[in-house]
Amino acid sequence: KEADRGTYPYYMLKEVDEQPAVLHRIQNAYFDTDDMPLLPANLLAEMQKADRLYIVGAGTSYHAGLVGQRLFEKLTKIPTEVVLASEFAYADPMLSKHPFFIFLTQSGETADSRQVLVRANEEWHAPSLTITNVENSTLYREATYQLLLNAGPEIAVASTKAYTAQIAVEAVVAKALGVALKISTAQDFKLNHELSLAANAIQAIVDEKATIKAIAHRDLETTRNAFYIGRGVDYFVALEAALKLKEISYIQAEGFASGELKHGTIALIEDKTPVIAIVTQEKTASHTRSNIQEVKSRGAQVSIIVSKNLAKPGDDIVIPSLSELLLPLVSVVPAQLLAYYASLERGYNVDQPRNLAKSVTVE
Ligand code: G6P
Repeated sequence: KEADRGTYPYYMLKEVDEQPAVLHRIQNAYFDTDDMPLLPANLLAEMQKADRLYIVGAGTSYHAGLVGQRLFEKLTKIPTEVVLASEFAYADPMLSKHPFFIFLTQSGETADSRQVLVRANEEWHAPSLTITNVENSTLYREATYQLLLNAGPEIAVASTKAYTAQIAVEAVVAKALGVALKISTAQDFKLNHELSLAANAIQAIVDEKATIKAIAHRDLETTRNAFYIGRGVDYFVALEAALKLKEISYIQAEGFASGELKHGTIALIEDKTPVIAIVTQEKTASHTRSNIQEVKSRGAQVSIIVSKNLAKPGDDIVIPSLSELLLPLVSVVPAQLLAYYASLERGYNVDQPRNLAKSVTVE
């Protein structure tokens, strides 16, 4: 059974390892011919009328939304905003004329997200799409349209495969919508093929865990804090990576936009402070490299997660290259594993971290 832990010590590790299979399942669910995703025609027609997309989420789903924002804007040219459900639920937003809401929620039960959906339905009379892992969940039922993540049951409190599935399904929707809108970036984007590359890349990482385990042992066993840095989507992955570390290892971890370090955060760097840099975007790689030098010269213990085409000798974790838009699917995986091994090193229950619930049904 899918929800069995099998020989895995923790569900989280099993779910990290399942990510290539989840991507294949998404490919099977959403593609028949090579490169054109199959989505309901009425959903695409409704989305084409939107002058702005609002992506709503909490926690890890919010982080998947941040990556999605880049996908939607690149592939559809529709301005896209990502909002925290708990904030937006009680804000007075200046909505566009034709807003379209996209709810990202693994469980489909998060009260904060539901509160936004209630307002979208009752107050703003705006169409919505829920992307969720749970069929017939509350947000699934109450939205205008719904798509499934096909990630299979996620048991560990720390979300892993739901995050990658959310990004993949966002890419499917963005590609289909972009093609419907005749946007050339979308027409040229070989999404199905790129998803196969991403699945292979993740497989390569989960097959080779020793390097990551060693970094966790060296840098994360006793440290009080740790920082992830990156730019653009690498920054968004840094936020998710830091959240993973906080949730299950209780290390005070933060994700920072690497260009912002010098405007304050660098004051926190001490001798041996762990800093993990994510470098997958060609346009900003050299800038992040400079930021890495800056923290190194203040004593930081730096590790680098880098895509192969941008790697330099001595970089710690080299991940295969693929479309930059989809690299967050891959660059997050070493970070998931670092959090897992840090939690193990510290002797915690990886699947059931203190104070946290898998699904939060209070506001
Ligand atoms: C809880 C979970 C997180 C999750 C968040 C949103 O806080 O512990 O892992 O990201 O809720 O959940 P959702 O089901 O809406 O994606």
